Amino acid sequence: MTDQKNSNPNLEGQKSKKVTLIGLGPMGLAMGNAFLNKGYELTVWNRTLSKADELAAKGAFKASSVTEALETNELVILSLTSYDAMYSILEPAAASLQGKVIVNLSSDTPHKAREAAKWLAGHGAIHITGGVQVPPSGIGSLESFTFYSGPREVFEANKKTLEVLTSTDYRGEEPGLAALYYQLQMDIFWTSMVSYFHAIAVAKKNGITAEEFLSTASGITAALPQFIQFYTPRIDADEHPGDVDKLSMGVASVEHVFHTTEEAGVDASLPAAVLELFKRGMQEGYHNNSFTSIIKVLEKQETASL
Ligand SMILES: NC(=O)c1ccc[n+]([C@@H]2O[C@H](COP(=O)([O-])OP(=O)(O)OC[C@H]3O[C@@H](n4cnc5c(N)ncnc54)[C@H](OP(=O)(O)O)[C@@H]3O)[C@@H](O)[C@H]2O)c1
Repeated sequence: MTDQKNSNPNLEGQKSKKVTLIGLGPMGLAMGNAFLNKGYELTVWNRTLSKADELAAKGAFKASSVTEALETNELVILSLTSYDAMYSILEPAAASLQGKVIVNLSSDTPHKAREAAKWLAGHGAIHITGGVQVPPSGIGSLESFTFYSGPREVFEANKKTLEVLTSTDYRGEEPGLAALYYQLQMDIFWTSMVSYFHAIAVAKKNGITAEEFLSTASGITAALPQFIQFYTPRIDADEHPGDVDKLSMGVASVEHVFHTTEEAGVDASLPAAVLELFKRGMQEGYHNNSFTSIIKVLEKQETASL
């Protein structure tokens, strides 16, 4: 009996347990291993082809060219440094893109994802944007997740295959959405981790080890969700009352962090940047408002004076 979905080449990936993977950095290698562990017929290609040897030894088919990698399967997963790498790889093989589903798990901006979706559509292929939320060690676990966006029907048809890698968090049809959510959480991740490194540097200069600082560091980060939950409805209502905290108090507090950093002989550029933002908020007249009014300062897109 003919299966309606299976007759559509764009929807075959899930049922056929066949997939092509292009890009074998640490992340791509982890993905390749996950597919092999689940019994998938895996085709791999990488610019530095020798990186495919490990997976080939475990049963993957090592394509000798991008064209061969594309032509072997309908579903093609990309795990590359950026979207520019995607164009370097796919442009010379563009004639083989017709009818393919390209699930792009490379990091880049929402704009780049939208442009890629248009470019691929022009070559008869469908783009599904992805943003992986875990390091390679988290691949193969449903406790990990990946943001996805793009045509819902195509995403749903390939969902089971994608769940070999992580669980899925589909954000909508608009191709930029997965990249946007990915970058929003990376925004928080990078700045939070650097603030932790900054505090560690100050602690170390005071003879405190990372181990001794661990419970304090964990305590403050574990408290952040309560702050986020408290301020969320106020931010959405564009209300920034100073009933709980005042920006003027925030300025005094960040000045204390800045001077503690200087006293320790540590680079103070991080608290200086926060202080500069807070002071701009004061100049804008938000001194009696909450420090959430900094959002309004940031939205003005002025360049911070360094
Ligand atoms: N690693 C992580 O912890 C992590 C976590 C979440 C998300 N991600 C995202 O997952 C993606 C892959 O991560 P990764 O750690 O495997 O990255 P990576 O080490 O940068 O590997 C990137 C892959 O891209 C290829 N590549 C880069 N520039 C290229 C070009 N101009 N032409 C052709 N191929 C090119 C590399 O080929 P060669 O081998 O030939 O250099 C390699 O296969 C990235 O977008 C990353 O942001 C990574």
